[in-house]
Amino acid sequence: MRTEQYTPRPAEGRLGILLPGLGAVSTTLIAGVELARRGLGRPIGSVTQMGTIRLGKRTEGRHPLIKDFVPLAGMEDIVFGAWDPFPQDAYESALNAGVLDKWEHIEPIKDFLQSIKPMPAAFDQRYVKKLEGINVKPGRSKRAWADALREDIRRFKEEKGCDRLVMVWCGSTEVFIKPGEIHQTLEAFERAIDEDHDQVAPSMLYAYAALMEGVPYANGAPNLSVDFPAMVELAQKNGVPVAGKDFKTGQTLIKTVLSPMLKARMLGLDGWFSTNILGNRDGEVLDDPESFKTKEESKLSVLEHILQPELYPELYRNFYHKVRINYYPPRGDAKEGWDNIDIRGWLDYPMQIKVDFLCRDSILAAPIVLDLALFLDLASRSSLHGIQEWLSFYLKSPMTAEGLYPEHDLFIQQMKLKNTLRWLMGEEQITHLGLEYYLDNVQELAAV
Ligand SMILES: NC(=O)c1ccc[n+]([C@@H]2O[C@H](COP(=O)([O-])OP(=O)(O)OC[C@H]3O[C@@H](n4cnc5c(N)ncnc54)[C@H](O)[C@@H]3O)[C@@H](O)[C@H]2O)c1
Repeated sequence: MRTEQYTPRPAEGRLGILLPGLGAVSTTLIAGVELARRGLGRPIGSVTQMGTIRLGKRTEGRHPLIKDFVPLAGMEDIVFGAWDPFPQDAYESALNAGVLDKWEHIEPIKDFLQSIKPMPAAFDQRYVKKLEGINVKPGRSKRAWADALREDIRRFKEEKGCDRLVMVWCGSTEVFIKPGEIHQTLEAFERAIDEDHDQVAPSMLYAYAALMEGVPYANGAPNLSVDFPAMVELAQKNGVPVAGKDFKTGQTLIKTVLSPMLKARMLGLDGWFSTNILGNRDGEVLDDPESFKTKEESKLSVLEHILQPELYPELYRNFYHKVRINYYPPRGDAKEGWDNIDIRGWLDYPMQIKVDFLCRDSILAAPIVLDLALFLDLASRSSLHGIQEWLSFYLKSPMTAEGLYPEHDLFIQQMKLKNTLRWLMGEEQITHLGLEYYLDNVQELAAV
């Protein structure tokens, strides 16, 4: 049973959502929230805004909206801040991103979007090779950047009159960095900041600054950022919730729905070939092999964890898995992802599944950012800190406690999320056993 300690405190006052990166995802989120507030658009895809939760038995008919069940910050109480190495405000950046219709969704809120100007970024081109930033913090001292970011956070909170803040990394994918010695303890990591160590990427400085200021942090990209032991130690020490990494939007979302089906029905897998074309700035950044490697690692691990070849060697020991991302400018943000899946059934007969997902990257990502921000704020008000595994639902490479494998199956993740909300509010967990509808003596049976 939950103790009083975890009862969520009410969401009073303003919530500031701080976004490192004011690109396609961020501007689509910001515009969407403002359009929804003005009744000019619907927040489709957001579980916090549209989802319901079943409480009690199926016969009770209790299905409140999640936002009525748990105390979440209201859309009207949200304010936005951002950093970006490009100086364009949210209006210009939204136009550049080319996600939203200029006349229907950008011009009507032009003034609002223009009011969001990016703060100078902690940016170093060695970590995102394809970008050249001009709106950047001076010098190269990592300690000075971390201090300046902390100062930005405090100033923003003061100027906007925020009661609480959360930060969600929506910046570009940085080059691949494997966790090393300096990432193992907070002490080693802080020393590395002071020594301007190469393995301290800018995204880690944002995460560090946030946690030092007691601000919950989620990482929407596949780079490490907050996903290493030193940061988890800091999150625990300062009592701050964290989540990461890499928004689960297009192809991986489909993968984490289809592959559990194969395993549930004991169908074998010979190969899964995934390829994408996309032409936004994210696609351009991922055209650099070092940034792509970070993404590839994140996308590849999903199948191994879901299919568990060690438990089902006959079905999944040798499947071939390939993921490709191709930068193709004509498509802009309208990504197309193809999957060719070679499966095997009764008596080893081969079959195939083909998926062609014509999606819109940022349209799928924006509601995830909103939900992560609102749920992290809830976690913080509920005295939850460290890794929030119940938010894996939104992420391609979920962070977990040491020694635990990540749960990738979307519907297990959804159950974990909803059961966490039930737990926080002192409601019964739903196990889906359901025998009580059929057996009179099920309570007695449970007792023996
Ligand atoms: N859209 C999706 O479906 C999706 C899914 C999973 C992950 N992501 C990740 O989300 C991130 C954002 O995606 P996007 O489509 O908005 O990309 P984008 O290129 O449009 O925007 C990223 C922004 O981050 C800025 N940036 C880079 N380094 C920075 C730094 N050090 N500090 C502050 N800003 C910095 C860039 O200048 C750019 O404006 C990317 O890392 C992407 O891989 C997106």
